[in-house]
Amino acid sequence: MRCSGGSRLVLLASAAIAALVVCMPGRADQAANDAYERPYTVCAPNTVDRVTYNGYRRYHAYCHVCHGPDGLGSSYAPNLVESLKVMPRDDFTQVVAGGRQNIAAGKESVMPAFYEVADVMNYLEDIYAYLKARSDGKLGRGRPERCPS
Ligand code: HEC
Repeated sequence: MRCSGGSRLVLLASAAIAALVVCMPGRADQAANDAYERPYTVCAPNTVDRVTYNGYRRYHAYCHVCHGPDGLGSSYAPNLVESLKVMPRDDFTQVVAGGRQNIAAGKESVMPAFYEVADVMNYLEDIYAYLKARSDGKLGRGRPERCPS
């Protein structure tokens, strides 16, 4: 009797541990997902890590002609600060790599595909980080400062 009571306790304890083990990857996944969706660091007002700073530069070299300065959109292309409030990172990657066309009556709206442009594709995370920091309201307009490295 004693022995079986003891083993029941062990069983209960191991069930509790199993529950913990099952829960922990969930939390780790959540943290990993946050880092994936928000790959920027803001270390002081208007001051960002190297990746995000580089994204600012790349954005203004390749995207701002259509999407406007600071990601704020133009009469031709959408405001990406707004877009990224609802668009997950994978969708962003897909649109930038593959492009998109919306040819409705009287209006031709074309997002070029960048999959062959190495200077964009190699730095997609940087451009995304910059725009996501803007979209989250963590970074203002204009050229940011760099965090001390
Ligand atoms: C030649 C102009 C042009 C350039 C350059 C350009 N885009 Fe676009 N982009 C557009 C247009 C137009 C749309 C809207 C397409 C549509 O109506 O489906 C768009 C759509 C997008 C969208 C989808 C927005 C949404 O709300 O669905 C993303 C993301 C995007 N562009 C990112 C970028 C990035 C990043 C760059 C630079 C690497 C870039 N674009 C360069 C014209 C451009």
